Amino acid sequence: MLENLRQDVVDAYENALAARENSYSPYSHFKVGAAVKFKGVDQVFYGCNVENASYGATICAERNAIWSGVAAVGKQDMEYLIVVADQDDPVPPCALCLQVISEFYDPKMPIYLGNLEGIRKMYLLEEILPVPFNNFVA
Ligand code: THU
Repeated sequence: MLENLRQDVVDAYENALAARENSYSPYSHFKVGAAVKFKGVDQVFYGCNVENASYGATICAERNAIWSGVAAVGKQDMEYLIVVADQDDPVPPCALCLQVISEFYDPKMPIYLGNLEGIRKMYLLEEILPVPFNNFVA
C-alpha cells in the first residue's frame, strides 16, 4: 500500500476490490474494479468491467463506476478515482475512460492504481492526460 493514504481512500480501494469480483469478463478473463468519489458526496460509487459478445459493447470498470455515480447523484466534480486489477504493474484507465474523465477535468485529481495487494501508484490526472479534449466551439 502507498504510504499516508486517507482511510476513506483505503476503504474505497477495498470496496473496489469487492466490485472487481463481480466483473463479467468471459472474453478477456481480466477482472477490473473501480471506485469514484465525488467532491461533497459521502457515498462512493463502484464499478466492474462488463464484457459483451460484440466486444465493442464492453464497458470498463471506471466508466461503470462513473455512470453509476452520475445516475445516483448527478454530475459532480470528481475528487478521486481508483482502479484495481490483478497485475503487478497496475493498469491506468484506458483512453476511452480518460475521455469520459476529461468531462470532469481537474488537473490535480488523484488517480490511484492498485492490484490485489494494495494501492501501488498515484498519478495526477494531468500526468496521465495532459491535454484533454473537453471544450470546443461549434
Ligand atoms: N478494462 C477496464 O475495465 N479498465 C481498464 O482500465 C482497462 C481495461 C477492461 C475492459 C475489458 O473488459 C478488459 O479490461 C480487457 O481489456
